Amino acid sequence: MSYITERDKAFVADTYARFPVEIVSGKGSVLYGADGKEYIDMGSGIGVTAFGAADDAWVSAVSEQLGRVAHTSNLYYTEPCGMLAELLCKKTGMSKVFFSNSGAEANECAIKVARKYSSEKKGDDCFTVVTLENSFHGRTLTTLSATGQAHYHELFNPLTPGFVHTPANNIEAFLKTVAEHKVAGVMIECVQGEGGVLPLEKDFILAVEKYCKDTDTPLIIDEVQTGNGRTGELYAYMNFGIEPDIVSTAKGIGGGLPLGATMLSKKVEGVLGHGDHGSTFGGNPVACAGGYSIISRIDEKLLSEIKEKSKYIFDTLSGEDGVLGVSGMGLMIGIKTEKKAIDVVNKCIEDGVLCLTAKDKVRLLPALNIPMDTLVRAIDVIKRACAL
Ligand SMILES: Cc1ncc(COP(=O)(O)O)c(C=O)c1O
Repeated sequence: MSYITERDKAFVADTYARFPVEIVSGKGSVLYGADGKEYIDMGSGIGVTAFGAADDAWVSAVSEQLGRVAHTSNLYYTEPCGMLAELLCKKTGMSKVFFSNSGAEANECAIKVARKYSSEKKGDDCFTVVTLENSFHGRTLTTLSATGQAHYHELFNPLTPGFVHTPANNIEAFLKTVAEHKVAGVMIECVQGEGGVLPLEKDFILAVEKYCKDTDTPLIIDEVQTGNGRTGELYAYMNFGIEPDIVSTAKGIGGGLPLGATMLSKKVEGVLGHGDHGSTFGGNPVACAGGYSIISRIDEKLLSEIKEKSKYIFDTLSGEDGVLGVSGMGLMIGIKTEKKAIDVVNKCIEDGVLCLTAKDKVRLLPALNIPMDTLVRAIDVIKRACAL
């Protein structure tokens, strides 16, 4: 055990089951350990380093801004924040953006907007937000309450009231749930990431959208993990042809720095006024300059390469020895294995590939621009690790 691990174990709160890997540097989809070992990174920091480690364009965008001004507070205007907001609105058709620093915060903002919109329109008792069983929306107490997985709730009661969970892909149960509550908003992930990389069925998503439109209920799409090119479209909802009222995102948009964004459609753009919401670091110019560099490079060419690489992974792993199934969209992939997922991940580490897990699956979230030859090498290692 080196001093990096020793010191961490001694002084850092023990909330993460870390793997015995010490990362000291990286370039693109390759990370280097303190012992000099090379790893192909199939997790990209859980979907954050969209263009890999030390990406030249992102590093120069961030460094230039760092040399100009790193922080000013939201009392003053800075250029990167407005530039990124404009770019997001132009690419999505949304009207306004609130910036924060994480996925949980992006969702907190989304929930506040939905509740304020609905209480103003329908009365103070209209506050319930409907989310899905097996969802994941964050770890603050409110986003934990939104999360539809009981094991995250234990020990943290009382939770924030006003959340109900309904099973994914069950339209009848959804319509029953919304009929039983005064609903302020509905929040869904188009692909449940932490829940096991499970895409929702199109019919279900369309039924949720129809209910929201018919009843003037804000539809929130949580794109924290699925967003920013991950599924082969800029945002996952674009695969389903729907028009959400609120889109929350984080992870990949920051490219490696903390950045959350809550995009607001015309309908809800004016819901939050001065003093209703805020964040000291939200819209930080360095994070936004990096975000601009990321979002401006997610173009049609990159998106079609993501789809091709996704197909390669599905085709190569499906039906292989020890592989029970492959799920997901784009470069957000879950592999159900006969071996325990954690055993497959540990074997991959031994063989120089870093993967993630999600529930009982091996999860892959490589950089969006992972070179094809690197991907081929990594999938070969994963395939062998899955084999019985
Ligand atoms: C769908 C979804 N929402 C919200 C979050 C929380 O994001 P953060 O950890 O940045 O707060 C996550 C994190 O994994 C997520 O996958």
